[in-house]
This record gives sequence, structure tokens and C-alpha cells, in this order.
Amino acid sequence: MFVCLGNHCRSPLAHGYFQHLLKKHGLEDEIEVDSSGTSGWHLGERPDSRVCHVAEKHGFSLRHIRGQKISRNDLESFELILVMDRSNLRDVLALDPHHQYADKIRLLRPFDTESTQDEVPDPYYSGIFEEVYTIVSRACDALLVYLTDSHQTSESD
Ligand code: 4NP
Repeated sequence: MFVCLGNHCRSPLAHGYFQHLLKKHGLEDEIEVDSSGTSGWHLGERPDSRVCHVAEKHGFSLRHIRGQKISRNDLESFELILVMDRSNLRDVLALDPHHQYADKIRLLRPFDTESTQDEVPDPYYSGIFEEVYTIVSRACDALLVYLTDSHQTSESD
């Protein structure tokens, strides 16, 4: 599950891009993908029109995504909770006061080992949607390699 503040820009972009990537590799039935926000500001809404436009430009759609707010249950249900910035990390960790799920709550961007930064910037006010696409797509490409590698390792154990 990808998580940002609003589930309106960054996490829907990661959600749609990662599904697109899984489809390309024939893995769409193997890995469940979802997204949410730490706030409920955009509950039930479609993603921001600017991020929908960037996704369409790169060959995938965010039309099926509706805003939702992360819940404690999500921490149990999902294998990885991938947040966009340190503020999201704080907010999600606050849902886990007994640190039961701390190992699965991680920043997304460090999966891209070539990045020297660990946050995905919020494009809502700055409008840097194309830059955010580049950051998110690189991190998601690296995430898929990580997931397929760790799956192979656990299969051969
Ligand atoms: P997101 O961006 O966390 O990437 O979805 C934002 C979307 C909406 C708002 C802030 C950030 N907002 O203030 O409504």
C-alpha cells in the first residue's frame, strides 16, 4: 500500500504506475496494490486532474482510484506500507503504538538506490508533477526488483 498525505497526488501515481508495471511483467495477479492518505481530505474523490494527466501521458490510467484514508487494519493486511515523506512516516507510525508493524512501514524513495534523497516531494502546491513521476517511477521500478528478488529467495529457502 502506497501512502501520502491526501491520497490525491503521489500515492495514486505510485498505485497506478506500479499496477501498470506489474501488468507489463504479467504479475498483476501476484501482488495486490492499493493506496491511501494519512488524512481523509479527499475521501472518495478521483486523484488530482494534474496527476491523472501525467499518468495518461506515460501510458497508464488512474481512473479506477478513489481517495481513502489509511486505517490500522491496513497495517495488518498489507505486507509493505510505503510512504512518500517523513511526515507520512510519523503519521503512519503513530497508528502502530506497540511497534507491531514497524518493519513493514518504509519510505518508498530509498528503494531507488541511485537517489541521494529519501522523500518524494509533495507536488500539490509546487506543481512539479513530471518530476514526481520520474522519482516515483524509478522507485517503483526498484521496488519490483526488490520484491521479485526477495520472493525468489524465500522460494529457494
Ligand atoms: P498528496 O498531495 O499527499 O501527494 O496527495 C496533497 C494533496 C492534497 C493536499 C495536500 C497534499 N491538500 O492540501 O488538499
